[in-house]
Amino acid sequence: MRKILVTSALPYANGPIHLGHLLEYIQTDIWVRFQKSRGEQCTYVCADDAHGTAIMLRAEKEGITPEQLIDRINQEHQRDFAGFSVGFDNYYSTHSPENQTLAESIYTALDKNGKIARRSITQAYDPEKELFLADRFVKGTCPKCGAEDQYGDNCENCSATYSPMELINPVSVISGATPIEKDSEHFFFKLPEFQDFLSEWTRSGTLQDQIANKLSEWLDAGLQEWDISRDAPYFGFEIPEQPGKYFYVWLDAPIGYMASFKNLCDRRDDLDFDEYWKKDSITELYHFIGKDIINFHALFWPAMLSCADYRTPTAVHAHGFVTVNGKKMSKSRGTFIKASTYLEHLDPEYLRYYFAAKLTSNVDDLDLNLEDFAQRVNSDLVGKVVNIASRCAGFITKKFDGQLAAQANNELLQQFIEAGDQIADFYEGREFGKAVRKIMELADIANQYIDEQAPWVVAKDPEQSELLHEICSNGINMFRQLMTYLGPILPVMREKSEAFLNTELSWDARETLLTAHAITKFKPLMTRVEMPKIDSMLEASKEAAAAEAQLGKKYDAPAKQENNAEPIADEIEFDDFAKVDLRVALIKNAEHVDGAKKLLKLTLDLGFTEKQVFSGIKSAYAPEDLVGKHTVMVANLKPRKMKFGMSEGMVLAAGPGGKDIWLLEPHEGAQPGMRIM
Ligand code: 2FM
Ligand code: ZN
Repeated sequence: MRKILVTSALPYANGPIHLGHLLEYIQTDIWVRFQKSRGEQCTYVCADDAHGTAIMLRAEKEGITPEQLIDRINQEHQRDFAGFSVGFDNYYSTHSPENQTLAESIYTALDKNGKIARRSITQAYDPEKELFLADRFVKGTCPKCGAEDQYGDNCENCSATYSPMELINPVSVISGATPIEKDSEHFFFKLPEFQDFLSEWTRSGTLQDQIANKLSEWLDAGLQEWDISRDAPYFGFEIPEQPGKYFYVWLDAPIGYMASFKNLCDRRDDLDFDEYWKKDSITELYHFIGKDIINFHALFWPAMLSCADYRTPTAVHAHGFVTVNGKKMSKSRGTFIKASTYLEHLDPEYLRYYFAAKLTSNVDDLDLNLEDFAQRVNSDLVGKVVNIASRCAGFITKKFDGQLAAQANNELLQQFIEAGDQIADFYEGREFGKAVRKIMELADIANQYIDEQAPWVVAKDPEQSELLHEICSNGINMFRQLMTYLGPILPVMREKSEAFLNTELSWDARETLLTAHAITKFKPLMTRVEMPKIDSMLEASKEAAAAEAQLGKKYDAPAKQENNAEPIADEIEFDDFAKVDLRVALIKNAEHVDGAKKLLKLTLDLGFTEKQVFSGIKSAYAPEDLVGKHTVMVANLKPRKMKFGMSEGMVLAAGPGGKDIWLLEPHEGAQPGMRIM
């Protein structure tokens, strides 16, 4: 039996769960249920991420204490997750005694090992509210292009980056006051000292290839020390012996995984905290997360764990974002759908199935196309799977007193049983879409069998009663195999099927067919998705968003204001695209860069000028293969200072990474300097 600990990212305790969140919890829950149905000891823990400025301010705005706010939100989150059958073994909070103890002890270990630096930094400060302002809490006019109402870190109009005090007429979004500059001492985790450890760890099979490649770029560019402290007032844990200094929310958030597990271990005799977390533990640890928070989980977190003498994760599984009807979720279109709103209109199992059918093991975004959603659920689940049972069950109940035949057609059913190994491999590798396709192939076979055998015709002839019994018993057995395989995705339908089949479904049990076995009366297992219900859900979401906006209830500083992970770009206007000057360039020279594992230094000739570019294509091309080639470059990218020198543009390349990165080469006859339109 494997011993597996699984987590999903901890949602912030200042807002509701929505469909974007649910992709992750549903993905994780399916994986965990799969492991459990195989008999593994698999434990799934999560918690609310309860600290930080945004939560403190939101509580203040509502006129309650942060503790009251996080208690209420914790209940709401647990209710929403339960509504979607997300079966945590423990759902806790980062604002807990276990988390405080663990965070303090991990911090102390980092400090003792000389990995904490202290130095004074200058930040924007709200003199009225008397608090330091993170970049996203300052707004003003862009110093570069003059666009108004821009955040303090970058301009949405011209993409310029700057510090908040460079804005023209900066204001604090909290009080409207003009921020001043103020110094204070901060604590930094010396991440650069983990460069070698992380280069190795991120390449040791712990990450998806796409992610490992992205991280190599960051590692090559050089790591920065990580600011882990915040000044009072702050809702969080005070740093030991440092009055007025608090752990930054992202320091204690992942420790919340351990704390939630610790809290569970204290109630469960079969789970031992140290067995799972001690260095070199042979248990498995998996974190499911969104691709936007990979730096916290694949850089800071393993470095902290190893420095504090704990085990590191077996793997970090990242997923992409949810779009609805091909676009980012939007409040005005009604596609920013809260879990609770969905549950008022539609069956949660529809969404679990649709997400599963489209999930892969990579980090591509997943589109919830609402028409396709209705069509797919209706045709696969209602039209194919439930249909098998409903076509056979009536005869068994009415004509055979609910008893299945003593014999079952082993040959066809053997094919169903054997397919289970491949389906299990798909689940294990998080290729849920492939698992679903295989299961639906089997459902087609089952329906074809019933069509061919036509039990409704056979039933008319009393002499063929035995044959009728056999056909329907086979159909029911096929249905049982299918529901075993769909069980991790559809826990409610699985439970109803267990009641109907009068047996427990598990991967092992499926190998023995149900013969001479009593089933119960068939009740409808799932109803069709109706488009009007989807429309009402969108309407309700629009109304809820409008009401919130009007009441000014929602504190609209972004929850992820301090998340410095690479964001997925928002849609851009054509005018933005037109600003990009793409040119044909001759690769005049290419050379290795001392100390860089990924980068080559390229000299690009545009005919009328030359540019020096550092490009992360070393894994795919040797310098000598590049010289003399024509490629496409972004010629007007503002020069960037990199660890190894200035980079004055960007070479366009595509591919999954590693050896498979291909430079985009223009058609023959393209001359250096030519503009690409
Ligand atoms: O990005 C977020 O929503 C964070 N609250 C996730 C935290 S995950 C973990 F590290 F705690
Ligand atoms: Zn600007």
